[in-house]
Amino acid sequence: MDNFFLQDEHQANPGMYLHENTKNFRHGSQFYSDAELTTQDAVAWIYDIYTDERILDEVALPAVTQAEVPGMNCLDTFLTRRSTRKYADKPLDITELSHFLKLAYPIDSSEKASTPGALPHQTLSQWNGHVTCCRLVLLIKNVTGVAPGAYLYDEFSHSLKLIRAESRHNIDDFLKQYCFQAEFIESPVLLLQVGSIKASTERYGERGYRYMLLEDGVQIQRMYLSGASLGLACCATGSLVQGKVESWLGLDGFNGSVLNGFVIGHYCPAPEASHDHA
Ligand SMILES: Cc1cc2nc3c(=O)[nH]c(=O)nc-3n(C[C@H](O)[C@H](O)[C@H](O)COP(=O)(O)O)c2cc1C
Repeated sequence: MDNFFLQDEHQANPGMYLHENTKNFRHGSQFYSDAELTTQDAVAWIYDIYTDERILDEVALPAVTQAEVPGMNCLDTFLTRRSTRKYADKPLDITELSHFLKLAYPIDSSEKASTPGALPHQTLSQWNGHVTCCRLVLLIKNVTGVAPGAYLYDEFSHSLKLIRAESRHNIDDFLKQYCFQAEFIESPVLLLQVGSIKASTERYGERGYRYMLLEDGVQIQRMYLSGASLGLACCATGSLVQGKVESWLGLDGFNGSVLNGFVIGHYCPAPEASHDHA
């Protein structure tokens, strides 16, 4: 190969080969079908993994429209958004979680008629911003009104589908081993972003790997802004042993793969100003 990075003096690694082979190139594999793809079709892959038999329970989140969610204006949201690594050991209310998730998806997410372009990478038509290459699986530890466990978020019905019931204690023990940022342990919810290498590459060809990660980034940004506008503390984190988390969630790493984590919760109250005078 004549690529700069793959010349002998530079150490080629698997990531570099992946990078090279997911670029646009003539005769590279393409989208497998010209059929119109609905949003529901585009996310069907997660329901092939978490079939009805694997859904243990369903929790309806308090109904709300985006317009009804109280939040900061755009400017304050942008000025406030930051990563937080210290969390109060305080429950998140189910309403706060409902508001956060509602803002984390486009406004038309729950409309059945919403149809994103089938070939967004090949047209100039508007993408509705609906992330379909990544899904959210929430590790709920401390949310008022929701039992601890792992839940898939369904934005169409605005509900949480229980895929693994587990005590907070057991989730914390698991995270202590396989999430190596202890500062996140106090947070009430860790959202895992799950992608599908199979679905993304079937849909877009080899480049689907890149699109999956791009959509992951879109979703992270949406969550940071949603959390900031609601006054919640947030932080993206890649500090997970992905393979272990995948096994824990019953994912095989190909049909479903853990991409990263995102923590939300309450800020720790600022320490009171000291009145000591030296
Ligand atoms: C994809 C992604 C992964 C991240 N992973 C981590 C992480 O593993 N641990 C962490 O403490 N922060 C992580 N962050 C947060 C960044 O460190 C943070 O966004 C950056 O320092 C800028 O700070 P700010 O978000 O407060 O503006 C991640 C951010 C992104 C976008």
